[in-house]
Amino acid sequence: MEFNAYFLVFYSLLFMLQHSSCRITAPCSQTPHPQVCHHYINTNLLSTLDYQQRFSFRDLVLKATMEQAIKAHQLVSSLNLNSLDGDDERAKLACNDCLELYEDTVDKLNRSIGSSNSFDANTWLSASLANLKTCQNGFVDFNISSSHLQSFPNYVTLSSNLSKMLSNSLSVHKVSTFPSALHFSKQVRGRRRTLLSDDGFPEWVSAADRRLLQSGSSGPKADMIVAQDGSGNYKSISEAVNSAHKLRSGATKRFVIHVKAGVYRENVEIKKTMKNIMFIGDGIDATIVTGNKNSQDGSTTYRSATFGMF
Ligand SMILES: *[C@@H]1O[C@H](CO)[C@@H](O)[C@H](O)[C@H]1NC(C)=O
Ligand SMILES: *[C@@H]1O[C@H](CO)[C@@H](O)[C@H](O)[C@H]1NC(C)=O
Ligand SMILES: *[C@@H]1O[C@H](CO)[C@@H](O)[C@H](O)[C@H]1NC(C)=O
Repeated sequence: MEFNAYFLVFYSLLFMLQHSSCRITAPCSQTPHPQVCHHYINTNLLSTLDYQQRFSFRDLVLKATMEQAIKAHQLVSSLNLNSLDGDDERAKLACNDCLELYEDTVDKLNRSIGSSNSFDANTWLSASLANLKTCQNGFVDFNISSSHLQSFPNYVTLSSNLSKMLSNSLSVHKVSTFPSALHFSKQVRGRRRTLLSDDGFPEWVSAADRRLLQSGSSGPKADMIVAQDGSGNYKSISEAVNSAHKLRSGATKRFVIHVKAGVYRENVEIKKTMKNIMFIGDGIDATIVTGNKNSQDGSTTYRSATFGMF
């Protein structure tokens, strides 16, 4: 529903841009945070956008967001953690987490820009947004929110602008790629034929995405099954992940692990070298993963995340 609404707005907007002389900076005003969008998106660049290529505004927003993520990462890297005195062990931990989280955000944004798979890109953008929140939580966990990172000049506005740009990226990405766009395009087919190709997709949906959307919604087939009752390949997610790691030894093809209903009390670590692993559960109330580390024993939210990516 939400996607549809966004798409409607965006679609009308593209239509207006093509067929009327409305202000060329208008796409920013359709984003959740127009002010920040205007601030970072060069209006000269906007006027050169080719609206036949529907991804250009998305790319522009993503690139501007990545520039800010790089700046934020540089700012956090420039902190001299050793200058914090002994009492601030926890602040050091939290700062270190943030450093990794910003690094990961730059990496995910970069991959989103280069990716032709809109579902993956959507996941990476959402994860980047979550990264910023996780960094913040690291300080809240230790009750040191008003010090260190937060007191660094520019950090608060930089990180707040970055999180707004990420949410802009996510919404622009959604309206430019998601399947609800397809429903809408079918509805309007008769009226706005010029923007649709013969198979009913808007012209800007790539061939790869068309195939993906047409393949149905039965979900991906699992390569490995985790079940607590022993009916799967493994009883714990960690065992499955370790075994998948050995089994695949660097392969990059998508590997799907189905985690059957149950409550799994474990902290799962997934190394960066394990590319393209996907977990599917039996539903939000059926498959539950809970960690057992917490800030009382000196680990931040990030370290105690039930699924950590390192
Ligand atoms: C954050 O965005 C606002 C516009 O909403 C801008 O005025 C401000 O300079 C930006 N801050 C930084 C640190 O880039
Ligand atoms: C983005 O990815 C490309 C290739 O995948 C790489 O060459 C480039 O250094 C990356 N940029 C950043 C900022 O990580
Ligand atoms: C957090 O720190 C403030 C002062 O820095 C203190 O007054 C407050 O009680 C602390 N809260 C917790 C939950 O430790």
